[in-house]
Amino acid sequence: MTGAAAGEAPVICVDGPSGAGKGTLAQSLADTLSWNLLDSGALYRVVGLACLSGGVPLDQAQQVAVVARSLDVTFQPGAEGVSVWLSGADVTREIRSEEGGISASTVAALPEVREALLLRQRELARLPGLVADGRDMGTVVFPSADLKIFLTASAEARAERRYHQLQGRGESVNLARLLAAIIERDARDESRSASPLVPADDAIVLDSTALSAGEVLSRVCELVSARAIMGEASEKRLDSAEASRQ
Ligand code: DC
Repeated sequence: MTGAAAGEAPVICVDGPSGAGKGTLAQSLADTLSWNLLDSGALYRVVGLACLSGGVPLDQAQQVAVVARSLDVTFQPGAEGVSVWLSGADVTREIRSEEGGISASTVAALPEVREALLLRQRELARLPGLVADGRDMGTVVFPSADLKIFLTASAEARAERRYHQLQGRGESVNLARLLAAIIERDARDESRSASPLVPADDAIVLDSTALSAGEVLSRVCELVSARAIMGEASEKRLDSAEASRQ
């Protein structure tokens, strides 16, 4: 392992706007390497939900920060991906609604909330390594990460992917409305003063507009190999995943 100091967990950051494929990439990369996974967006979504169900107004920064600090949240890996639990209740589906996304984006704009979640996120950098998915993983939370990917795609491609995802879940959706919501959310995430959505100076920007999820994973695995940031066991897993894709 060359990128991280001995005993320190290596970190790979996957940042970028909604719908670029970060979640899919981060999950498949964590699976391939058998590393831990941080879905930081889920943390902001859970804060939004906890406030709504506890009657805390989303614009009251101090009160929202108290909720963020005392959050009883757990992530449980399972056959269908990671499920998210808030105070003993499975909220995986609830936090993924469009409304959940809007509440998350609102509380994520509050510096007090970002500060409250900082330590909780850094604590997840444990051996053998962490794949961290979010917006400010490479700029703020893990500035000395071993590899930083900024995954992007055109707003139209992201709206279309979301459209098919929601349709597949049996939800009734309107493409034009989804596109407008994505553009509005991007503007809010990019223009906020606290940890705006921008690539870190040392991030590798990858445009997934014309790439399949498998192609994105292959490119990132090549970068991971080239940086030699893994322990021997993770390296073997990466080699065998590469061999089975060929
Ligand atoms: O990735 P996601 O759609 O689950 O994120 C939900 C919201 O949280 C999104 O509006 C951006 C915000 N977010 C953030 O500000 N910082 C992060 N590290 C992760 C998400």
